[in-house]
Amino acid sequence: MDIFEKSQSLNVIDLLKRVKLYPFFRKIEDTQGATVVSDNKKLVMMGSNNYLGLTHDPRVIEASVAATKKWGTGCTGSRFLNGNLKLHEELEETLADFLGYESALVFATGFMANQGAITGLCGPSDYIYSDKENHACIVEGCKLSKSKFIVYKHLDYDALEERISKAPSDASKLIITDGVFSMTGRIADYKRIHEIAEKHGAMTYVDDAHGLGVIGEGGRGTVSHFGLKSDILMGTFSKSLASQGGFICASHEVNRWLKHKARTFMFSAGLSPASSAAALKALEILRDEPARVTEQQANAAYLKMKFQEAGLDTMGTETSVIPVFIGDDQTALNVCKQLFDKGVFTTPVMYPAVPRGNAVIRCSVMTTHTKKDLDRAAEAFADLSTMIQAANKNTATDAMFDVMTMSPEKAMSYIKQKIKESQT
Ligand SMILES: Cc1ncc(COP(=O)(O)O)c(C=O)c1O
Repeated sequence: MDIFEKSQSLNVIDLLKRVKLYPFFRKIEDTQGATVVSDNKKLVMMGSNNYLGLTHDPRVIEASVAATKKWGTGCTGSRFLNGNLKLHEELEETLADFLGYESALVFATGFMANQGAITGLCGPSDYIYSDKENHACIVEGCKLSKSKFIVYKHLDYDALEERISKAPSDASKLIITDGVFSMTGRIADYKRIHEIAEKHGAMTYVDDAHGLGVIGEGGRGTVSHFGLKSDILMGTFSKSLASQGGFICASHEVNRWLKHKARTFMFSAGLSPASSAAALKALEILRDEPARVTEQQANAAYLKMKFQEAGLDTMGTETSVIPVFIGDDQTALNVCKQLFDKGVFTTPVMYPAVPRGNAVIRCSVMTTHTKKDLDRAAEAFADLSTMIQAANKNTATDAMFDVMTMSPEKAMSYIKQKIKESQT
């Protein structure tokens, strides 16, 4: 088999597109943040991470444009060498000050921040304890680091403690967790993690991609929500902060180390001026207008209540990520398409991102959603609640993922059959 042969199996995607069930890479033809145009249709955007709705704030846009005019369109090199702008350092100082850390280090993406920090800090003799549902880039970093990588059951801190107590007492240990889990909206119990870390001499690392701007004092995230600090706080600009890029907050010494050891920092160009300035302005708005956070929390509480009134299972969410539990993949695809037809943009989460037969439609709420937007989304879901509730009980674990290995003919008849089943 030649190296490209495997790519042929993905022709099932063309089949799904033909029956208008393919829910990914939808072309956005226009966007105002909370609403978008796709397939010539105006839709309420319920699938974005733009929690504070700042991507279209005129002040953020203006700052980004002004930075491009002042600094040019790119850094054309690593910050280590020729690409370290005063703007990057101003962003880092503002982040560290807002979040209460000695220092912050900005990377070109959140993915690179996690991968670079974990591989920069951990090696074969170290022990990393990681929640099973941690983001893929944490998993990548842990694997690449060649550390002893111990995965504990999602949110099961007894399991964490049991595992960590078995490590040699003099070993270097790191507990790493998402602050807010991106698929369920659940919050890690950082109080418990902190206690376990203290007891067993471990350091803590929180990825707060979905906590920053969403929970905690003035949107300071998960550790602030518990009134505590983590040894490392990772965040991204690609969600509440309306831009692109990621960062690590830590002590001065740790970030000095990462500046000289994290390969994703050293061997990649610095964050563009436009993205840096947008993130800085969004951060200043978050700092100066904490009401944006409480408005977003109120919107999330409203939508969650509407979903629950409609008998939908929101999986214990505590934040602005509001999943609706579906069950089998076919119904998830079908629900997504019907929501689209009703003017609501959502994204399904299916195996292997979740266990088989546990597909979810992930919604997320923004400050800039109007009550009308939220009502529209809630009504569209409520219209489908009978179908969704029936799927909740469906134990079928056939995954769309499996279809990828079938012949095109078999895949087509399989898909048609499944669509028929999920519509009856
Ligand atoms: C929990 C978590 N960590 C890290 C990342 C990566 O962030 P970025 O989009 O900045 O690469 C994401 C993005 O999806 C995320 O959800």
